[in-house]
Amino acid sequence: MASTREKLLGQFFTPERVAAFLVRWAAPGDGDRVLDPSCGDGVFLRQLHSAVGVEFCPESAAQARAAAAHAQVVEADFFQWASTHGPEFDAIVGNPPFIRYQQFTGPTRKSAFALARRIGVEFNGLTSSWAPFLAVSASLVRPGGRMAFVVPAEIGHATYAAPLIEGLCRNFSSVTIVAIREKLFPDLSQDAWLLFVSGKGGRTETIGFTAVDRFCSRIDPDNPTSLVSLRDWRQAGQRLRKFLLPADLREAYHLVIERAGATQLANIADVTIGYVSGDNDFFHLSRSAARLFEIPDAFLRPTIRRGEQLATDYVDQRLVDRWLAANEQIYVLDLTSTTEVPRSVAAYLTSPRGEEARARYKCRVRDPWYVIPGVAQTPSAFITCMSGRESRLAINRAGAVCTNSVLSVSLMQRVSHRGLLRGWRHPLSRLCQELEGHPLGGGMLKLEPGEARRVHVPLRPFHPTKAEGLALAESIDLMRTWRHYGPDADRA
Ligand SMILES: C[S@@+](CC[C@H](N)C(=O)[O-])C[C@H]1O[C@@H](n2cnc3c(N)ncnc32)[C@H](O)[C@@H]1O
Repeated sequence: MASTREKLLGQFFTPERVAAFLVRWAAPGDGDRVLDPSCGDGVFLRQLHSAVGVEFCPESAAQARAAAAHAQVVEADFFQWASTHGPEFDAIVGNPPFIRYQQFTGPTRKSAFALARRIGVEFNGLTSSWAPFLAVSASLVRPGGRMAFVVPAEIGHATYAAPLIEGLCRNFSSVTIVAIREKLFPDLSQDAWLLFVSGKGGRTETIGFTAVDRFCSRIDPDNPTSLVSLRDWRQAGQRLRKFLLPADLREAYHLVIERAGATQLANIADVTIGYVSGDNDFFHLSRSAARLFEIPDAFLRPTIRRGEQLATDYVDQRLVDRWLAANEQIYVLDLTSTTEVPRSVAAYLTSPRGEEARARYKCRVRDPWYVIPGVAQTPSAFITCMSGRESRLAINRAGAVCTNSVLSVSLMQRVSHRGLLRGWRHPLSRLCQELEGHPLGGGMLKLEPGEARRVHVPLRPFHPTKAEGLALAESIDLMRTWRHYGPDADRA
């Protein structure tokens, strides 16, 4: 497991042979002026005759100095350092820190975003550190220069990666991404891919894309196996991940969508995440707790708190009764439409446990503190948002609600429930879930609400031809291997 320091600083060091490969491509000449903006212990600097390395962590900077005596190692925050430098490097190489947006905050983020504007890239608050690291690095490349980086595989699907890719294509004549299926960092849940850009000052309308099973030094970034036009990439929702499918399988997939008359979930339903209670243990009661505190039935709603509850096609009263009989905490306290809180409920709210819940952040910032926003909306169906082999959809026949650990689906028009269930399970939809969703580590498939909305669902019965069926099955298998799905993920 990564230590806190490793996580806070994104300290994961690149294997020597990968660093050597990136250096050979980006800085083949001895006289090149080269920068590694986050040099860690100096694995890239060691491969270079002379270079500048910037590193925030004093211990790592000292290690880099010891490992690469010929390099100039600056102990600094890269963004601060970059604010006093211009486009002066022939080549920039490295492996940027992957610090998630929740931790990538304050003045560092502010200056990172301001400097990214130098190459016309605008990031939003949900951006992890590596993307501005690359944009700011790009601003330090002299005309005609190049960059080679290890990048998180999120570059293939994260919304915040799109402005970076657009910006690189506007500032370099060649942009190539190499997707690598086998993990470069076996201890990390995220996969890593490689990025190669050259010809600063030019622009390109295509992204070179090569997908390989494992890293090897025969990869040729100058001859990618496919060229994805920016137009196609934008049409694919700015997700390179979809191009992991070879062209023939992608074509078969698009033809089947058309032949099946499949519609995107967004056209028939509103998909969101469920409510956030603020204190799950307090707001969720078992039947015996509800009886003990004399909470009237009118204020209790059955709820879905975990994806595992969606093991069957229908959430109905029989299933809810089974959960209640097992004394599961699946009643949520819903005081939305209460003008006068009954005495027994008031006693529960003012109990020591209630006072504890009231002091929690989410409860403190709402008025009244005990009304959970969004709890009153009854969805038509639920979808698991973190799945092993595949995601599950269940129709809501019990007036149940759900927490944010599953997706809530509210149909906007009359749709046959059987058709929806069948459609979600159809291989076409299964493949679409793989392509629109993204890997979460440990083989899991994550579907954010926006990703689920884009999933195509055939609502009418549709039987693919044998060839179509084989192409869909092969594509699903391939996408599962890219998210490292194995039976273990089902047990997660
Ligand atoms: C993924 S590691 C890569 C280190 C090295 N380049 C390698 O590939 O082995 C990222 C490095 O960035 C450093 N770092 C994090 N934030 C930084 C910042 N704002 N400025 C400079 N370095 C930073 C971390 O301490 C860490 O050593």
